[in-house]
Amino acid sequence: MLKDKIVVITGASSGIGAEIAKLLSKQGAIPILLARSIEKLHQVAGQISGKHDVFQLDVTSTKQVNEVMNAILDKYQRIDILINNAGFGVFEEFIDASLEAVEKMMDVNYMGMVRCTKAVLPAMVKNKSGHIINIASVAGKLATAKSTGYSATKFAMIGFSNSLRHELLNKGVLVSTVNPGPIDTPFFDTADPSGHYVKEVKWMMLTPQKVAKEVVKVINHKKREKTLPFSANVGVKLYQLFPNTFDRLMGNVLNRK
Ligand SMILES: NC(=O)c1ccc[n+]([C@@H]2O[C@H](COP(=O)([O-])OP(=O)(O)OC[C@H]3O[C@@H](n4cnc5c(N)ncnc54)[C@H](OP(=O)(O)O)[C@@H]3O)[C@@H](O)[C@H]2O)c1
Repeated sequence: MLKDKIVVITGASSGIGAEIAKLLSKQGAIPILLARSIEKLHQVAGQISGKHDVFQLDVTSTKQVNEVMNAILDKYQRIDILINNAGFGVFEEFIDASLEAVEKMMDVNYMGMVRCTKAVLPAMVKNKSGHIINIASVAGKLATAKSTGYSATKFAMIGFSNSLRHELLNKGVLVSTVNPGPIDTPFFDTADPSGHYVKEVKWMMLTPQKVAKEVVKVINHKKREKTLPFSANVGVKLYQLFPNTFDRLMGNVLNRK
């Protein structure tokens, strides 16, 4: 099913983006790896034996996004799947957070996804075929302390995706979101430099390999949304039904950042 599919992955130089690229290649797809660090991209690409490609891209630059997506479309004639994965977080209380950090998170996580989707969507609609997968987070379903800036970007990604899905009904283009809980990746070097949060949640951290497998399942089963792990999905459902009770009972556990 994935054989020879052109899959563009942002944030593929590290963490789950790199694992998704490797797994998709094993399944016969042609991953196109994008990120700012060209050296890291080549390191990841070196672990991929199948056909693949690498482009340097900073998703905060509209010009670069348009140039790179057009170059990929020129070279391969189509993009079958776009995985908007580039992102970062800074976990701190809003009163201490700099506006620059809040703005930058929105620029990379949310606007990066918007720019890449805008650049790729016309070709997908023209081909009446495509799948856009947005890597959001449990933080986009359930907000906790020290995540005002980060959580807002992930809620925004999910809102954008849910709206776009309606617009693309009957146009052959699918939109999915994947919402993982904490994953053991270099994400926390920036999000939690003290290591305090990681220590608290180490026991429940997902591996990037597990998340990559779930992303591939979302592609193969054309799933609308996947929240993982299972316990987080149950928590999100309870939070949506009983937000006050959930906050009261779970606040201490969830706010350990
Ligand atoms: N780790 C977690 O606990 C967790 C949980 C839920 C969701 N997520 C989400 O999963 C996604 C991937 O995170 P990860 O855990 O794999 O973190 P990671 O290992 O730090 O990888 C982040 C990737 O994003 C890229 N990136 C950052 N800024 C960029 C920019 N301006 N332009 C282009 N690429 C950029 C980085 O590449 P360069 O630096 O080379 O550009 C890197 O490849 C993020 O959207 C994150 O919010 C993570």
